Amino acid sequence: MQLAVKSNNFEQDIAQDRRDSSQVAERALGRVISCDGSRATIASAVSGASRLGPDAWTIGKLISVNLGHTRLVGLVYQMRAVKSAWDEAGDNAIHIDVELLGEVVEAQGGGTRFQSGISTYPPIGTLAHRIRAGDLALVHDLGARQGVTIGALTQDAGIPATVCIEDMLARHFAILGTTGVGKSSAVALLLRRAIAVKPKLRVLILDPHNEYAHAFPDKSVSMEADTLDLPFWMFRLDEFADVVFRGRPAMEDETDILREVVASARSRYRAAASHDLARDLGASLLKRPLDANAPRPTAETGAASADAPTPYRMKDALAIIDELIGLHEIRYPRGALRSLRVRLEALYGDPRYHFMFARANMIETMAPVVGQIFRLPHHGRPISVFQLAGLPSEVVNAVASVLARLAFDLAMASQGGYEVLVLCEEAHRYVPSDPALGFAPTRQAIARIAKEGRKYGCYLGVVTQRPGELDSTILSQCSTIFAMRLANERDQQIIRSAIADASASTIAFLSSIGNREAIAFGEGVATTMRMRFAELQPHELPEMALAHGGAAPRGEPLLEEMIRRMRGTS
Ligand SMILES: Nc1ncnc2c1ncn2[C@@H]1O[C@H](COP(=O)(O)OP(=O)(O)O)[C@@H](O)[C@H]1O
Ligand SMILES: [Mg+2]
Repeated sequence: MQLAVKSNNFEQDIAQDRRDSSQVAERALGRVISCDGSRATIASAVSGASRLGPDAWTIGKLISVNLGHTRLVGLVYQMRAVKSAWDEAGDNAIHIDVELLGEVVEAQGGGTRFQSGISTYPPIGTLAHRIRAGDLALVHDLGARQGVTIGALTQDAGIPATVCIEDMLARHFAILGTTGVGKSSAVALLLRRAIAVKPKLRVLILDPHNEYAHAFPDKSVSMEADTLDLPFWMFRLDEFADVVFRGRPAMEDETDILREVVASARSRYRAAASHDLARDLGASLLKRPLDANAPRPTAETGAASADAPTPYRMKDALAIIDELIGLHEIRYPRGALRSLRVRLEALYGDPRYHFMFARANMIETMAPVVGQIFRLPHHGRPISVFQLAGLPSEVVNAVASVLARLAFDLAMASQGGYEVLVLCEEAHRYVPSDPALGFAPTRQAIARIAKEGRKYGCYLGVVTQRPGELDSTILSQCSTIFAMRLANERDQQIIRSAIADASASTIAFLSSIGNREAIAFGEGVATTMRMRFAELQPHELPEMALAHGGAAPRGEPLLEEMIRRMRGTS
């Protein structure tokens, strides 16, 4: 009896399929001729006339294997004609190899749903055919999760491609692909969607090409050397040392000197502030930025106080160096002290470093700086774009480190009040796979977001054209991946290992998919989805500032950048 019911449904299904395709003159039907559990081969035939039709069997399409009560969904990854000669007039037998991805099951209430994995295997001879539009939509349906449309399926432009922004952010995401395939444009699109659905979200873009300000003229503020304030006293010792010693590793004495100088300058500032406080008591108590809870510098906590983000004055730091030089008993080589003094003075006077020094001592707490960078309040512009190309190239790493660190700390301190997404373009520069490259504090700050950010609402988006050069532990923390065209076999291999359930046949397409196309995997999507990002209007596209002579970086950094490119190291 049960059997009869099943076969009844089966006949209905076939009839339904016929109706679906009634406009199509010739149907592409086939029969399963072999199955090994995860893959199946379908025999079909093509006539000279039908080979280009909309129903034609083609690589990369999803197809349906009809079991009546369920329909298996398979991905065509390989096909061939059975005979080596082609008959133009008659039918040509072909074999189609598919990978079985899951099944559309009829739910009890009458609806249908898609589930990954196969519970019933097709007997030999089972009918296979093009997938119904309804089933295709079901495969990529997010169910109860809130989805936003970011484009359309490649297979059927009538079906929207949706992602769950919440899940995409919470477990971090990556966009990988060769230069020019549309990564930055995809970022622009995803960020627009993300800020639209998440009002608590702030976005910080580390933008080494100065291209994103153009993409969000209405939603972002752009920060460059002239408009940015990142006071030197907010840098941690290792970050500040990286700036002071211009990226070359400091000699042991030099870091020690800097640590002592900074810690002493901090305590001097604090002492002066509390002195003033005593004097002004009663007058303007609340105007004082003094942080009573900050750790007091002592001999033991010297290192900690060199890192505490409290203000100090460059004037005091220089005076302290002078005192050390003048000491009778020589604690540090005088040459090292003098050279540090010269370096600090040079930085202080260098117009390219105005963002660190010029207004630093007018700002006496972190609040205005953090407020400016993280858009609190956002006045309708929750995105801040850091135009790194305009900064002296030797501070870029330290700045990236400070920003990533602040993002994490802010999200944590807000206790759920704000969420922060740090979007890293050219992420392989900050978190390179080779531990000898890159800047350790930046790597640490980004790794901390990748590993612990989720708990506090701090998320990471990484974009790179060189997945092979990106730290693999960072990539493995990215649970949603948009893989765009990647020609290189090694890069494809990396994606295969980063995503556990990425089917081998899907990855095989990565070398040949079109511009704006992506294969989306992981938490943010329902099932591995081959899609095409929606078209952006010209005013929504990121734009290389250099190509338009816009906010091009000036002077030395540009030259350095070019030379690095010429050497192929950038
Ligand atoms: N979604 C899109 N809508 C419209 N044009 C796009 C889109 N994606 C890419 N493009 C076009 O392709 C060009 C290169 O895209 P881009 O995002 O800069 O690539 P990538 O960052 O991968 O180098 C863009 O300048 C734009 O002209
Ligand atoms: Mg780009």
